[in-house]
Amino acid sequence: MYVDRGSPEDAREMAKLYCQAFPESVEFFFGRKPAKLLLDLMELTFRLIFHWGGEALLLKDEGGQAVGYCLYLSAEQARLQRRWGKALTCLARLAAKVAPSELLRLLHNQLTMARSAESTRKIPKTKAEILSIAISPACQGQGLGTLLLEKVLQRIKNQPVILNVRANNESGKRLYAAAGFSAYGTTKDLLGEWIMLIREPRSHSQR
Ligand SMILES: CC(C)(COP(=O)(O)OP(=O)(O)OC[C@H]1O[C@@H](n2cnc3c(N)ncnc32)[C@H](O)[C@@H]1OP(=O)(O)O)[C@@H](O)C(=O)NCCC(=O)NCCS
Repeated sequence: MYVDRGSPEDAREMAKLYCQAFPESVEFFFGRKPAKLLLDLMELTFRLIFHWGGEALLLKDEGGQAVGYCLYLSAEQARLQRRWGKALTCLARLAAKVAPSELLRLLHNQLTMARSAESTRKIPKTKAEILSIAISPACQGQGLGTLLLEKVLQRIKNQPVILNVRANNESGKRLYAAAGFSAYGTTKDLLGEWIMLIREPRSHSQR
């Protein structure tokens, strides 16, 4: 296994991994979508995030096949790397692939999440966010998620890092606790509770 930097060209592979790793969300939001259309949609979503300034590390096997990804966005870096033209083109293509009923449900979900967020502290504007991390189901539980997250955190170690994890996601919660994340709030969406986590930048004595 080795770690590689992701690019928009990896979006299809990331979309496949996403669909395998998050079957519940896929079923809930896109249950009626044909598999090919769903993959097209997810690929465009990942491409959009790259063009918006997101970055990713991929974990690949000896054959070069991606078995995991971690997608993150550092606010400062994203501002510098954002490609407005490509992002807007992607957004337009994406909009054409989402059915109105799916869009309504996604918007309802986002609104529910925003309305339910309860934070115990103010989060700085300049921060990084882990947007998604997934390991292929066949390779989970072997320390690969830990390895990938560690590599990403090394790249953004000077910033606070936030993310959300589902309250019932035991492996996710353990992964983040071991990496030094702690809870600063909760929220919920149409599928249940989320815990909001933050990891402060390491001081010199902790490095
Ligand atoms: C969450 C995920 C990225 C973790 O990657 P992984 O390679 O499976 O995890 P690791 O083997 O590095 O183990 C990380 C921790 O989870 C624990 N863990 C792994 N599989 C577990 C399981 N099935 N049940 C409970 N805990 C589990 C490990 O014991 C370890 O905790 P520890 O250090 O306290 O022992 C991966 O399981 C995954 O892709 N899950 C589906 C998608 C997902 O939930 N992503 C996170 C969204 S926030």
